[in-house]
Amino acid sequence: MTGTDGPLIAAIETSCDDTSVALVRGGREELAHKSQTQIEPHAAMGGIVPEAAARIHVEAIDAVWHACLTEAGVDAAELDALAVTQGPGLPGSLLVGLGFAQGLAAAVDCPLIPVNHLEGHFASPWLNEGDPPEFPLVALIVSGGHTELVYGAAPGEYRLIGRTRDDAAGEAFDKVARMLGLSYPGGPAIQRAAEGRDGSPLELPRAWLPGTSDFSFSGLKTAVRRLVHDELGPVEAARIGAAHDGAAGIDDPEFVADVAYAFEVSVVDVLVTKTVRAARQMHAATITLTGGVAANARLRAALDAASPVPVHVPALRHCVDNASMIAVAGAWRLARGEVANGPLEPEPGLALA
Ligand code: KG4
Ligand code: ZN
Repeated sequence: MTGTDGPLIAAIETSCDDTSVALVRGGREELAHKSQTQIEPHAAMGGIVPEAAARIHVEAIDAVWHACLTEAGVDAAELDALAVTQGPGLPGSLLVGLGFAQGLAAAVDCPLIPVNHLEGHFASPWLNEGDPPEFPLVALIVSGGHTELVYGAAPGEYRLIGRTRDDAAGEAFDKVARMLGLSYPGGPAIQRAAEGRDGSPLELPRAWLPGTSDFSFSGLKTAVRRLVHDELGPVEAARIGAAHDGAAGIDDPEFVADVAYAFEVSVVDVLVTKTVRAARQMHAATITLTGGVAANARLRAALDAASPVPVHVPALRHCVDNASMIAVAGAWRLARGEVANGPLEPEPGLALA
């Protein structure tokens, strides 16, 4: 792999519900990655509870940091720089990572690089072996908090070309899963429920928002809610929707599979059509698909089939939040000289472009 001579960067990512530390050399080679996910405690609460997330980060971060350095056999004094997610994300969660990173950077006297979480997702395909994506590219970043279509001319040169006007794609997966009595996180649960299907008697709407590269998923979510109400009646639908972690599943696997499939193909159809259209219009050399929803098998296959240019998708563990992608974006920023020269504050609403 290329990049083995480049800077050794440690990264810390705590923007949401994963406490994650990574060591990456040359912006490409992952030496070690340790992550402690909070899926279990949050699943028990039916979704992410911000105060709980911050507290769990505080409890976990020191051990995750040491485990990562130990696995790579690296001493903190060897680091060329330390990268940390500054935003967007949950304010309390961001603060834990930033505080820890600032203390460390001061203690080992190395440059500290604030990283935009979305630039991290954008950079995640560079962790793949083989040739990296070619610029200019169109990047579809789809996660629990974001649905963004970005034109990238070069590292650091981004233009936002479309975004969701309401729910993020992953958020829609999570909410629809809950309506169907499936477990959190909803994306994998819906994928499993719809697996192997290639048709459904149900048809769900697509929000095309003509003339824009924007997305909307709230109408689709409402359509699913109506279907579930019509099938189960309002009382049972409300009972299922209020239960946590699939505790009150719908006793009709065929209906659940039909809805899950119709929902999944509706989301995939809009995401793929708009991404491919943007790539053609902007003469992109490649398309990248990143973020937690990029783990979706139907989305990966459909984008691959429809794209006129190579599609780069990170490994599954680099689709969901991880610190390795923050280290890659950190390496790009280090090359541009973008290091912190004072105290860093969380920027929960930070935009990519
Ligand atoms: O990137 P990520 O780990 O966290 C955020 O930055 O939001 O993305 C998490 C999101 C969740 O909404 C989850 O349901 C979704 O990614 N997700 C999936 C799949 N795996 C995770 N969505 C669809 N299909 C999947 N297989
Ligand atoms: Zn993310």
